[in-house]
Amino acid sequence: MRVRVLGSAAGGGFPQWNCGCPNCRGVRRGAIAAVPRTQESVAVSADGEAWFLLNASPEIRGQLESFPALHPRGPRDSPIAGILLTNGDLDHCLGLLSLRESYPVTVYATDRVRRGFTDGNVLYRTLERFDGQVAWRSLTPGREEALTVPGGAPSGLTVTAVALPGKPPVHLMGRFPPDREDNVGFRILERSTGRVLAYLSGVAAVTPEVLRALDGAACVFFDGTFWSNDELVALGLGSQRAEDMAHLPIGGTGGSLAALADHRSGRRVYIHINNTNPILREDSAERAAVEAGGWTVAHDGMELEL
Ligand code: MLT
Ligand code: MN
Ligand code: ZN
Repeated sequence: MRVRVLGSAAGGGFPQWNCGCPNCRGVRRGAIAAVPRTQESVAVSADGEAWFLLNASPEIRGQLESFPALHPRGPRDSPIAGILLTNGDLDHCLGLLSLRESYPVTVYATDRVRRGFTDGNVLYRTLERFDGQVAWRSLTPGREEALTVPGGAPSGLTVTAVALPGKPPVHLMGRFPPDREDNVGFRILERSTGRVLAYLSGVAAVTPEVLRALDGAACVFFDGTFWSNDELVALGLGSQRAEDMAHLPIGGTGGSLAALADHRSGRRVYIHINNTNPILREDSAERAAVEAGGWTVAHDGMELEL
């Protein structure tokens, strides 16, 4: 399985347009050991021909251009066989609206995430210009689905969605009660090798279900949004704690680094990294701590072969 990180940052990207935190200022000026990052999206493929995007970020156009394997092979074409959505957050969905140039798109999502994006959304009409412009494929936690290529043949990959502790997207909070299909992770299985990519980019807590989702994976991508619970508060950027945003911090006694220390899966990668996170600085103590724990910090353009 080929895996290419198109974007590795959390919502807002790095640097974020309205952020003057030390990381954002530093990376703009080239004054810190850190590289800019676009918002989270990852491409996976079994054969290097048909690709599946995990999330569609607001920066999708530049992200697709950044990776030649995703360029058209004919006058009207795309190697993107499908797009999988982990949740309805705008950093994961807005890119769908940028794929409006009258070309069929297949989107895999829970019914909950599909309805959150389509119901009452006048902008969604841009993806309803012709019958079948978007083919929605329903994901149900625990049920394995074949990822297919246009025409319906198997791609060599399957996906099993896993319900994860999380929250509805900010713009739908209070509209509906929270639901277990609001936020999912993926176990993507390559049938020919039996290798599994576990993709959990939004995780509010490490539960037994989360640990099961990581079991036996050749590679794990995990929520790396914040280092500490009060990161935004301490920097004077807001009142929300990591837990209020349903992101388990990496550091601290209850953080993911400690909680997953005994769960030695294969390659382990933090992704969806907020611009305030000290792990973005290559020379920080926090970066050294995650690397000592066997983790890599995702960066745009990173490629893995499982
Ligand atoms: C999140 O990851 O919590 C969301 O992307 C935040 C947001 O939608 O602003
Ligand atoms: Mn996000
Ligand atoms: Zn910032």
